Amino acid sequence: MLTISDIEELKKSLSVKRKEFRHISLVPTMGNLHDGHLKLVKEASQISDFVCVSVFVNPLQFGPEEDFSSYPRTLDEDIQKLENTECALLFVPEPNELLLDIKTHTADPFLSSILCGKTRKNHFDGVVTIVNKLFELFDPDTTFFGEKDYQQLMIIKEFVSRQSLNVLVKGIPTEREDSGLAKSSRNQYLKDDEKDKATLIYKTLCQVKKSITDSASLDKAINEGIEVLEENSFKVDYLEARSKENLKRSNDLEMTILLCAATINKVRLIDNLVF
Ligand code: PAJ
Repeated sequence: MLTISDIEELKKSLSVKRKEFRHISLVPTMGNLHDGHLKLVKEASQISDFVCVSVFVNPLQFGPEEDFSSYPRTLDEDIQKLENTECALLFVPEPNELLLDIKTHTADPFLSSILCGKTRKNHFDGVVTIVNKLFELFDPDTTFFGEKDYQQLMIIKEFVSRQSLNVLVKGIPTEREDSGLAKSSRNQYLKDDEKDKATLIYKTLCQVKKSITDSASLDKAINEGIEVLEENSFKVDYLEARSKENLKRSNDLEMTILLCAATINKVRLIDNLVF
């Protein structure tokens, strides 16, 4: 695996590789890699003969009160994990170089104003700005994003379509612990007892889905889900049912996705469940 930090070196390397390989994939990450990230790499390797991963903790997508400085940076471990995958090129840019004269972009106003966008102002603008920069550098045929961050996935798809970018965005199902807890870099902020408690997010989503499909009213099932989480000392940011196609509110059960963000002891976790 090649590891590159310098942008000129990346460009040179990619221009050589592009002649050799037919299908280039890009998996953008912020590092601290876990099995969820590695699943994206694996999926990329199924359709692509040159898999690239980027590791960059993107300051543009963190709010002033958020965990940018404490976000786990574990590059040596990340490299070791990637060495055991089909990843052929790892890009670890220098922040100053990557961000120099970066052209800022905005996420779709509707998609970025709901759910996480209500409390994480400008977060998704920061995401599309950096992802666009990575697309410019790599010009990938396909890029892989996790359904765990469903709103982000929808925003990237909308952005790619609006900008007419020539890249296929593939969404990959969420990788979970045996307990059901969605794998996340932020899980390591949790103490053991909090990690046990955090499994309640997915359990609650499953229970709400069951109640709704057993014909309980959607609002009632959701309110009961919020109550369960709050009784267990979560601060619930949102628990909502939306259309999995466009994240608008919807009564069509077959198209429904439940999405939740909840904080336990200052650690904000998100998860979702499609019907
Ligand atoms: P990060 O949180 O590192 O996630 C990188 C990718 O891994 C995202 O597409 C995310 O949805 C996916 N992912 C995370 N946990 C997952 C899980 N349990 N199962 C499957 N996929 C999972 O998301 C970001 O970084 C950043 O916003 C980024 C897109 C890199 C832009 O900075």
